[in-house]
Amino acid sequence: MDSPSRKLMTSLAFSLLAVVVFSASSAGAEFEQVHDVCRVTKDYSSCVAALNVDPRAAKATTFHSIGEIALQIAAKNATASRKYVDQMIMDPNTKPSWKPVLESCKANFDMAAWQFLTASRELSFDAMTANYDVRMASDEIYACLRSMRDSKQDIPPLVAACYRVKAHVTIGDAVTNRW
Ligand SMILES: *[C@@H]1O[C@H](CO)[C@@H](O)[C@H](O)[C@H]1NC(C)=O
Repeated sequence: MDSPSRKLMTSLAFSLLAVVVFSASSAGAEFEQVHDVCRVTKDYSSCVAALNVDPRAAKATTFHSIGEIALQIAAKNATASRKYVDQMIMDPNTKPSWKPVLESCKANFDMAAWQFLTASRELSFDAMTANYDVRMASDEIYACLRSMRDSKQDIPPLVAACYRVKAHVTIGDAVTNRW
């Protein structure tokens, strides 16, 4: 092999090595923030699954950025639940006795989505208030469960929706309780 092509091979080998080393280190950093958040929640794997719905989560490099992303995911999830409740209200097969509870829970999910979104905006400058807003979102979910109990209506899909949003309260709490 003559000298110029050997030089080329050497530099190619080095670039390749650099790429490998770089991607290995960023892969390590990649999952780090998700891991950091989820390890303090009770259910690690469902926390990871919840955060992985947004491809930005794995790439987050700071606790703040994963926090904002997590709270945005939570807001979207609460909004999705509100839409789900809306569909139940529209559904002609839904029991009429469920409707008043569904209506009030729809408002609860709406408020919860708003609180999560507000928390995501506050996180970078006021984590304490963001944490308070996550608790307000939690209160909305409890209010929904309570209205079901008070009206003596058992609505299993609504209970399930509440628990799905509650999973995001746990994550939201984990990302807002360091200040
Ligand atoms: C909301 O989040 C829960 C918990 O991560 C998940 O099981 C559910 O599929 C999500 N719902 C939507 C509509 O994204």
